Amino acid sequence: MSHETPDRPLTTALAEAAATAGHAPSVHNTQPWRWRVLPDALELRVVRDRQLTAADPEGRLLALSCGTALHHARVALAAEGWSCVVERLPDPGDPELLARLGDLRHVGADAEAMRLVQCMRVRHTDRRPVSDEPVPAAALDDIAKAVAAEGSRMQVLNADQVMELAAAAAHAGAVEADDPQLREELAYWTTRVGTGTGLPPEVLPAQAPQTTVPARDFGRSGTLPVGPGHDRAAVYGLLFGDEDEPDTWLRAGEALSAAWLTATRLGVSVVPLSGVVEVEGTRQTLRQTLAGIGYPYLVLRMGLADPEHAGPPHTPRLATEQIVDTSAVRAGGA
Ligand SMILES: Cc1cc2nc3c(=O)[nH]c(=O)nc-3n(C[C@H](O)[C@H](O)[C@H](O)COP(=O)(O)O)c2cc1C
Repeated sequence: MSHETPDRPLTTALAEAAATAGHAPSVHNTQPWRWRVLPDALELRVVRDRQLTAADPEGRLLALSCGTALHHARVALAAEGWSCVVERLPDPGDPELLARLGDLRHVGADAEAMRLVQCMRVRHTDRRPVSDEPVPAAALDDIAKAVAAEGSRMQVLNADQVMELAAAAAHAGAVEADDPQLREELAYWTTRVGTGTGLPPEVLPAQAPQTTVPARDFGRSGTLPVGPGHDRAAVYGLLFGDEDEPDTWLRAGEALSAAWLTATRLGVSVVPLSGVVEVEGTRQTLRQTLAGIGYPYLVLRMGLADPEHAGPPHTPRLATEQIVDTSAVRAGGA
């Protein structure tokens, strides 16, 4: 471990890590986070205005989304040589403050973190069917290990469990399609063109892809061409953990980020399926699938991306100024 002096001020590294975390995935691309750069710490705050109040009133997917950004920022700091101590939900009187990254020390760049930062820039959600090539068992092992290292777990579903999941996803889709508030919320997040949030038509399939487990019906067709393939080679994993509380959801988001970046490095495409978690009844079905050993957070479809066709374009993001507040360090000239 080296203790060389960093060639750039800490506050620059903090601001850059927060900006890099802007690549993180979030439900419906809501990006419900805001960073505050302090002279010796970085704070992550939730932005409730971008919570899915109809689909996610408890804030499970909100915290999962913020957790992916937290993991991205941690990795970006490690890639620049900074270690930190993360306090999650550090102030019970201030529940909007999700995390504080402090006690920063320059210890030398972490090579694995550097590789994962590159993956942040190429990772994306590709909702088309996957190729017929099976996902190598070693890749699934590495993805599961990345999840475990962040304190959550991933169960790869067997054929019977995938059939149960398919039925649950179909049921969740029907429940959600029948709810006017959910339809309105989905319509809002799929018509945000030009705002840097939400899902533009280019990333949504032009027609429903053939999948074993029904994908989310976004209520409108996009313009992403979908081939005739079927994703029968896809593997479905259930991300879960010991508790169903905001701090474990945040950690599950960190695990999701770790899994997805690892998958990207290994050429495995990941699509989260959250409809089954949003609907109370199907969330309970997933809990039964886990036979009571934990609480389900998210389903992940994993498969090898179709090598024949280029993936969808990147989903837009908010401008850095909208998610990173540097006012506390600008005034002091840190
Ligand atoms: C917690 C969470 C839940 C998600 N649920 C779904 C889903 O149900 N269906 C889907 O197609 N994409 C889902 N996504 C993917 C997001 O829509 C995607 O990450 C976001 O639009 C940003 O696009 P990108 O991943 O291509 O950068 C989810 C992402 C997260 C973090």
